Amino acid sequence: MMTVPDLHRYKREQKKVIVVTAYDALFARIVEQAGLEVILVGDSLGIVVQGKANTLSVTMDDMLYHTRLVAGAAQKSLIIGDMPFMSYQAGKDEAVRNAGRFLQAGAHAVKLEGGAVMVDRIQAMTQVGIPVIGHLGMTPQSVNQYGGYKVQGKEGDRAQVLLDDSKAIEEAGAVAVVLEAIPAKLARAITAQLSIPTIGIGAGLHCDGQVLVLYDLLGMFDEFVPKFVKPYAHLKADALQALRRYKEEVEQGKFPSDAESYH
Ligand code: KIV
Repeated sequence: MMTVPDLHRYKREQKKVIVVTAYDALFARIVEQAGLEVILVGDSLGIVVQGKANTLSVTMDDMLYHTRLVAGAAQKSLIIGDMPFMSYQAGKDEAVRNAGRFLQAGAHAVKLEGGAVMVDRIQAMTQVGIPVIGHLGMTPQSVNQYGGYKVQGKEGDRAQVLLDDSKAIEEAGAVAVVLEAIPAKLARAITAQLSIPTIGIGAGLHCDGQVLVLYDLLGMFDEFVPKFVKPYAHLKADALQALRRYKEEVEQGKFPSDAESYH
């Protein structure tokens, strides 16, 4: 069973923290069978499951539903619940209450986006026993501010803000931080200055761990494929081929055959 303290141990022992998203019981089991130990129930489900253009419309109810599905099936993974837009931005008290609901749904930690501005929320959650994972760089819930999904921290002053933000959230009690779509050199500097693990997505090789969206990794979602995605399989192509063959065989009277019929 992977636990929150193991994240620190992995950093000390220079062991990679390998994270993937999952949104349902079937994939939670497959992820565990593959030997992965950390599952993020990401609000990316707004895009890959719900078919929206961004994550902003995802609700607490959506997230809790999927967290329950994953937590009900996973047996040994560290499960991280991703706090959706407007579940923590408005204030500390609401943020703590919503974070608590994730733990009641079976998550072991929550993730939220933002740096120094989130310090009071991270402290408040940590004080009541809710482990928090930060998320810096290209934070998808701020997509409207960026004017699209764009690499962050390229300019020196923005890079310094991210360095400062990472230190601030570590000091506030965050147990790890996701670094998304930032230059590899900056991610390396952040990783070197923190004692908590950095988990990169589009942040180069020198992070303490990596995270990918499951459907990107499996080649199931091809509507928007960022540069940092490596498809390790091509399941959309496989699914298309299977469905076309099924249609063809039914049309041609080849399915069901004797083998698929009761006698
Ligand atoms: O929602 C999500 O899946 C995420 C990852 C991309 C880090 O936040």
